Amino acid sequence: MMKTTKTVFLKLALMYTSSLVLSCSADKEDVVTPPPNPPAAEVKFSTQVLPIFQTSCSGCHGVTNPPNGISLTSFAQISANATAAYNAIQADRMPKGGPALSATQKALIKAWIDAGKKDN
Ligand code: HEC
Repeated sequence: MMKTTKTVFLKLALMYTSSLVLSCSADKEDVVTPPPNPPAAEVKFSTQVLPIFQTSCSGCHGVTNPPNGISLTSFAQISANATAAYNAIQADRMPKGGPALSATQKALIKAWIDAGKKDN
């Protein structure tokens, strides 16, 4: 009889201890340490750069017979012509006849080129 009580007590003590250990380690996992220097948000081609070209350029620089042979509708075309396009935008030569792009739009395109023209 005494032996059984002792065993039950030991079992309970063990369960209690292990639950303490478990809750302790769970608490540790909840702690989120912020990175020391969070990197600047990367410019996304698909959502930030492509829409600018679609809105302001591809109406003229489409797929069929585009001016100067420059199509600006896809990632491949835009990345191949990125520097020429940026220079024309920066000098306000393009979009031809339309309002110049904003400083923010110009900066986004430049940041995307500087980051290596990623297809992201
Ligand atoms: C209204 C039509 C039209 C729109 C919109 C347009 N272009 Fe053009 N683009 C032209 C024409 C026409 C030429 C041929 C050269 C000229 O007439 O100046 C040209 C030439 C170019 C050239 C080569 C000559 C140069 O000036 O460097 C580039 C690069 C260019 N466009 C980029 C762009 C970009 C980037 C956009 C959007 C921001 C854009 N274009 C919007 C009509 C347009």
